[in-house]
Amino acid sequence: MRIHIIVGARPNFVKVAPLMRVLRQTSVFEPVLIHTGQHYDANMSGIFFEQLGIEEPTYSFEIGSGSHSEQTAAIMVAYENLCKSDKPDLTIVVGDVNSTMAVSIAAKKLGIKIAHLEAGLRSFDREMPEEINRILTDSIADILWTPSADGSEHLLREGHDEKDISLVGNIMIDTMVYMRGAIEKLSVRKDLGIENTKYGIVTLHRPSNVDNRSKITKICEALITASQDIDLVFPIHPRTRQKLKEFGLFAELENSSILLLEPQGYGEFMNLVFGSFMAITDSGGIQEEATFLKIPCLTLRDNTERPITITAGSNRLISEDELLDAIQATLDLKKEEITVPPLWDGQTAQRVVADLRKRFEV
Ligand code: UD1
Repeated sequence: MRIHIIVGARPNFVKVAPLMRVLRQTSVFEPVLIHTGQHYDANMSGIFFEQLGIEEPTYSFEIGSGSHSEQTAAIMVAYENLCKSDKPDLTIVVGDVNSTMAVSIAAKKLGIKIAHLEAGLRSFDREMPEEINRILTDSIADILWTPSADGSEHLLREGHDEKDISLVGNIMIDTMVYMRGAIEKLSVRKDLGIENTKYGIVTLHRPSNVDNRSKITKICEALITASQDIDLVFPIHPRTRQKLKEFGLFAELENSSILLLEPQGYGEFMNLVFGSFMAITDSGGIQEEATFLKIPCLTLRDNTERPITITAGSNRLISEDELLDAIQATLDLKKEEITVPPLWDGQTAQRVVADLRKRFEV
C-alpha cells in the first residue's frame, strides 16, 4: 500500500517520526513523506528531520508563510497536482495545522481515503484556527485515530461511525519515550549554565496571545516580575519575536533576567523541559509533554482541546491576569499528584500500524 504521510509545521515532525519508523519496518506499507513547507526555517523544520531521524521528504511544496487562505489554497493546489502523478492508496494527516486540513480536502475530493492521527480533540473554541482545522479534517476523514477517550466520544457525538474510530494513544509520547536517553545526554542545560538552577520553561506562539497587544503586554509584565524571584527560560517562536518587536516589548524582555533563546531543536527543547520545574505555555503539545513528565503546566488559554492534561493534575488554564499568582501557587504542586493518561506509553505508532493491517487486511 502506498501511503502519503503529510507534514507541514513543527509539531507534525514530532508526530510522524515514530509512524514512519514503524511503517518502514513492514513490507506491506510504502510510506511516502510529503512536506508542505508551512514551516521552513532551519530551526523550525530541518533540525527536526535530523534529530528525529526522519528521512528527506520525497516531495516538498515549499509553500512558506501567508494568510490562512493563501497557505491553505497553495497546499491544496500543490497536493492535487501531485496526486495526478502519484496517487496513494491512503493519505495520513496528523495534528491540526493548516497543512492537515488543506491536504485532507484536496485528497477527499480526489476520492483518496484519509486517516487522521490525533483525531477528535476539541477546544470548542471556533475562534481558534486549529479548531476549524480539526473539525473540517475529522468531518471528512475515513479513519480516525484518537489519542484519548474524550476524542472518541466527541467523534461519536458528531455522528461518526464507531467502526471508523480507533483509540490508539498519544503519538507525541512515542517520540519522547524513544528519544529519552539521547535527550538526557545533551549538554544544553550545562552549556547555558543552568544545570543546577530551578527554572520555568516558557513558550508562546498562539495568535490569541501574541497578536493581541494588551494580552502579550500583560504576559510580558508578569513574566518580568516573576523573573525577579524565579529563573525563566524562553525560546521564542518567530511569530512571537516579530510581534514582541512590533509592540515594542522585546527590548524590555532582553533587559530582564529572563533567558531568551532562539527556537530550539526537539532534543534541546525537551532537555530544557526535563530540567524545568514548571512550564508556562500556550502550546498543545507541551501541555501533553509536561503531563507525561509530571511537570506542572500553566496554560495561557481560556480552553484546551486536551482536557485530559487537566484531569491528570498537571495542567491549569490561566489568564494573563492570573499568571503571577499561578506561578507562585505552582511552587507547591507535588509530582505525585499528577497521573499519566492511559495509552501514553510509546506504543502508539505500533497500534496505528496494527489498526491499518486489520482495516486493509494486509
Ligand atoms: C502553526 C500552526 C499551529 C502550531 C504552530 C507550531 C496553523 C494554523 N498553525 O502556527 O497550530 O501550533 O504552527 O509552531 O497551522 N515563521 C517563520 N519561519 C517558519 C515558520 C513561521 O519565520 O519556519 C513565521 C512567519 O512570519 C509566519 C509566522 O511565523 O508568518 C506564523 O507561521 P504559521 O505557519 O502561519 O503559523 P504558526 O504560528 O507557526
